Amino acid sequence: MRLHIADHPLVHHKVTCLRDESTDSPTFRSLVDELVTLLAYEATRHVRVEFCNVTTPLTTTTGVHIAKPAPLIVPILRAGLGMLEGMTRLLPTAEVGFLGLRRDEETLEAVTYANRLPEDLRGRQVFVLDPMLATGGSLVAAIEYVLERGATDVTAVCLLASPEGIDHVRDTFDGRADVSVVVATVDEKLNDVGFIVPGLGDAGDRLYGVVD
Ligand code: PRP
Repeated sequence: MRLHIADHPLVHHKVTCLRDESTDSPTFRSLVDELVTLLAYEATRHVRVEFCNVTTPLTTTTGVHIAKPAPLIVPILRAGLGMLEGMTRLLPTAEVGFLGLRRDEETLEAVTYANRLPEDLRGRQVFVLDPMLATGGSLVAAIEYVLERGATDVTAVCLLASPEGIDHVRDTFDGRADVSVVVATVDEKLNDVGFIVPGLGDAGDRLYGVVD
């Protein structure tokens, strides 16, 4: 597994605002959107391209466009939805598959409640979006779904990660698949109820409100 930690003052500034408990939902959503755009730049560094010809007002030259089959973006509901628009803005030809995963707060296991992924992902680059990589259970489950469908090149884009979550993803996929994780920051630890510390709380609740 390749890990890329964004090291940029704008990223640190926006993460600090996200952490602040007094940041309201509309501001939180904007910050998530802005952060994804910054992380997407790094996450798409190896996106596949094809050469093409382009006619300028002066001449014809060669350029590139995003290769086919189009990349697939997979936001993990709910919180990953907050990252979708920022990612599609940079990758407008990508298609989108949806995974609904809910972490059981007792067992910390990921429970799947929605799955709308294309059946055949052979040859497709996949970008999984989830702001929080805590125990890693949700991200591991999401990556397993796309590998089962034939994907071999998976990049996860997360905002906050715990060292424990990163180790879980690495231990699960090293030697099995080409998995990259791009994060804004790696926090100190998981607490005893599976929350990232210092963290930002529950990203889904802060984006969309409390459901239960
Ligand atoms: C949170 C978060 C991740 C997951 C991370 O989702 O958005 O998807 O938990 O935890 P893990 O790494 O330990 O699996 P949650 O279950 O709260 O659902 P939500 O996005 O609908 O709020």
